[in-house]
Amino acid sequence: MKFVIGNDHGGLDLVEVVKEELESLGHEVIHVGAYENKSVDYSDFAKKACQEILDKNADLGILICGTGLGMSISANKIKGIRAACVSEAFSARMSRAHNNANVLCMGARVIGSETCKMIVDEFAKTEFEGGRHQRRVDKISAIEENLN
Ligand code: RB5
Repeated sequence: MKFVIGNDHGGLDLVEVVKEELESLGHEVIHVGAYENKSVDYSDFAKKACQEILDKNADLGILICGTGLGMSISANKIKGIRAACVSEAFSARMSRAHNNANVLCMGARVIGSETCKMIVDEFAKTEFEGGRHQRRVDKISAIEENLN
């Protein structure tokens, strides 16, 4: 699969950890920045990374900021994006299996690199279960369309 990574300065410490983990699992990675430890706005990078998913240049996204919160709040404003802010592996798995999350958000000031790798592994290997969960995800899409 193809992954896009986006981060702000607060997320920089986990970028290489995520990139190396994904590559070791055989995935392709695009990194859209930020590339240096200079203060930037997380929403700019959430938008940039999510656009790669909407343009079908990436299948899934990983967004990292200090807490994962700013990234997830921003990403979830974008139609077609389902972003899950996660700090342990079980929720990472469920975000794919039940919610069909297409973006994983993490906080580099919240979790360490080993937890991060476990989260990334679960997110990357878990498939959406469909069935009753599809109906629920469809209802999320309906909220986006104001049809609910
Ligand atoms: C940046 O200082 C920090 O606010 C940001 O990385 C993130 O934690 C926001 O949600």
